[in-house]
Amino acid sequence: MGCNRNCGLVAGAVIGAVLAVFGGILMPVGDMLIEKTIKKEVVLEEGTIAFKNWVKTGTDVYRQFWIFDVQNPDEVTVNSSKIKVKQRGPYTYRVRYLAKENITQDPETHTVSFLQPNGAIFEPSLSVGTEDDTFTILNLAVAAAPQLYPNTFMQGILNSFIKKSKSSMFQNRTLKELLWGYTDPFLNLVPYPITTTIGVFYPYNNTADGIYKVFNGKDDISKVAIIDTYKGRKNLSYWSSYCDLINGTDAASFPPFVEKTRVLQFFSSDICRKTCVHFTSSFSTWKS
Ligand SMILES: *[C@@H]1O[C@H](CO)[C@@H](O)[C@H](O)[C@H]1NC(C)=O
Ligand SMILES: *[C@@H]1O[C@H](CO)[C@@H](O)[C@H](O)[C@H]1NC(C)=O
Ligand SMILES: *[C@@H]1O[C@H](CO)[C@@H](O)[C@H](O)[C@H]1NC(C)=O
Ligand SMILES: *[C@@H]1O[C@H](CO)[C@@H](O)[C@H](O)[C@H]1NC(C)=O
Ligand SMILES: *[C@@H]1O[C@H](CO)[C@@H](O)[C@H](O)[C@H]1NC(C)=O
Ligand SMILES: *[C@@H]1O[C@H](CO)[C@@H](O)[C@H](O)[C@H]1NC(C)=O
Repeated sequence: MGCNRNCGLVAGAVIGAVLAVFGGILMPVGDMLIEKTIKKEVVLEEGTIAFKNWVKTGTDVYRQFWIFDVQNPDEVTVNSSKIKVKQRGPYTYRVRYLAKENITQDPETHTVSFLQPNGAIFEPSLSVGTEDDTFTILNLAVAAAPQLYPNTFMQGILNSFIKKSKSSMFQNRTLKELLWGYTDPFLNLVPYPITTTIGVFYPYNNTADGIYKVFNGKDDISKVAIIDTYKGRKNLSYWSSYCDLINGTDAASFPPFVEKTRVLQFFSSDICRKTCVHFTSSFSTWKS
C-alpha cells in the first residue's frame, strides 16, 4: 500500500510523542546539568571560568569622583560667611585592572587569600574635564593641624609656619593633586620628619589593598567571593555597631543565582566601610 497519508500522520504522532517524552526528561536534566556546571565553574580555584575572571577582573571597573568647588573662599575666611560650593564631575578613573597577587588557597577553611594591587587610569571620555582641572578646596593640612595639636603653644608655632608658607584655610589644587597627592608647603616647613605629601588616596600606585580572605565556594556556592576577613580581621574597629562589620564581597563579584529581591552587600576599603545595593531597575552600560 506504501506510505499513505494516515500512515504519515501516525508516524508523525509517534515521533512527536517520543520527542515530547525526551524533551520532558531532558529539560530538568538540562537544567540540572547547567546548574551543576555553574556550581563547578564559579568556584574560585585554578581552572574554573570564574577564577580566570576573578584573578584579573574581566570587565572594566570605573570609579567616579565629584568635587565640591568652593565659590566664596575669601568671604568664608574673612567674614565667616556660609560656604558656597559647586559640584563638578564626574571625573572617571579605570580601577581594578591589575591582577590579584599572592593568591593562596586554604583547603581546610575553603577560603582563598589575596592582595589587590591598586592602580587608576584617567578616562577622559567619561569625564567632564581633565586631571589638571583646578578646584578651590579646604586646605587639608591647615584644617587638620589645630585638631591634632590642641596645645596653644604648638598652635602658635604652627601658625607661624602657615603664615610663612602663605597657606590659608582654602587652596587651589588640581584634581590629580587632590586625589593622588601633592607636597604641602606648610608641612614642608615643619622641622620634624613628617609626611609632607597629602592626597585623599595617597599613596595609591604601587600599593596593594588587603590581605583579603574570601570564601572560594567549594563547600557552599552561596558563599563564593564573600569576605571572611580583611587584613586578618572580621571588623574594622573604626565605626560603632554594625557599620564596623565586613559583610559581603568586594563588589567585583557576587555568588551565583542572585534574585532581584536580594540586597547585595559589599565592602569598600576606600571608604572604610560596608555598604549595599538594592535592585531598582534594569539599564544598559553598553556604549555605542
Ligand atoms: C566682609 O564683610 C564686609 C562687611 O559686610 C564687606 O565689606 C567685605 O567686602 C566682606 N569681605 C569679603 C572678602 O567678602
Ligand atoms: C606577596 O608575595 C611576595 C613574593 O611572592 C612577598 O615578597 C610578599 O611579602 C607577599 N606579600 C604579603 C603581604 O604577603
Ligand atoms: C598610576 O599608574 C597609572 C598606570 O600606570 C598611570 O596612568 C597614572 O598616571 C599613575 N598615577 C599617578 C598619580 O602617578
Ligand atoms: C585660586 O584661584 C582663584 C581664581 O582661579 C584666585 O582668585 C585665588 O586667589 C586662588 N586662591 C589661592 C589660595 O591661590
Ligand atoms: C572586632 O574584632 C575584635 C577582634 O578581631 C573583637 O575582639 C571584637 O569583639 C570585635 N567587635 C565586634 C563589634 O564585633
Ligand atoms: C555580617 O558579618 C558578621 C560577622 O562576620 C556576621 O555575624 C553577620 O551575620 C553578617 N551580617 C549579614 C547581614 O550578613
